[in-house]
Amino acid sequence: MDLPQVKDELVQFNEMIFLYNSAMKEFKLRLEILRDEYKFVHQYDPVYDVLSRIKSIDSITAKLAKQGKAITVENIEKYVDDIAGIRICCNYSTDIYRLVDMLQAQKDIEIINSKDYMNETKTNGYRGYHMIITMPVHLAGRVVPVKVEVQLRTTAMNSWAILEDVLENTYDDYLPEELMKDIKECADMLHAVDKRMIRIQDEVSQYKKERQ
Ligand code: GTP
Ligand code: MG
Repeated sequence: MDLPQVKDELVQFNEMIFLYNSAMKEFKLRLEILRDEYKFVHQYDPVYDVLSRIKSIDSITAKLAKQGKAITVENIEKYVDDIAGIRICCNYSTDIYRLVDMLQAQKDIEIINSKDYMNETKTNGYRGYHMIITMPVHLAGRVVPVKVEVQLRTTAMNSWAILEDVLENTYDDYLPEELMKDIKECADMLHAVDKRMIRIQDEVSQYKKERQ
């Protein structure tokens, strides 16, 4: 690549990051309004915490390299779905499905793909609900659909996933069997606790209804 080409690619890169940032802002606002409405109607917030990030240049290039693709802005947009990432942590798994339903009902959000690891647990024990969506970004003269990865987890599963991530990054391809067993057992225990807490929550809300 000669110098003008490099400059052109850099301008395109900055424009792309601007769009991903904008899509993230739009998504967060959309979520905030849904939460406010839910709180207003049900006196209950289905979201505990929201985290967001733009993928680092190191991770972007590593992901393209893994797929054997050249590092270009075009390839980033085409092959990397998680440049803009939102993680929604909920207290209970029931909240996850509530939110998924609310997001699916938003007419201008297109769901490109969903992975329900809540029901189809990964072999390591990971549970969560993932979606790649496109969020419309309204610019001065046009509307651009921009990809956003949305991950929904319970807070219990989130703390598990953070630890599991550390294991994966530390041991690369070889995770000792004992640790693998241990971390899977933790995931199953947390899942059992998550289920038990929902039962308690149901019992409490039933009791409250009866008292009214
Ligand atoms: P990546 O290429 O890693 O982004 O995954 P993917 O394209 O197969 O998509 P998937 O929906 O399975 O995973 C998206 C993201 O969810 C990952 O980048 C991780 O941040 C998270 N994730 C998925 N599986 C696991 C897991 O087993 N453990 C942990 N800690 N995080 C996971
Ligand atoms: Mg990812």
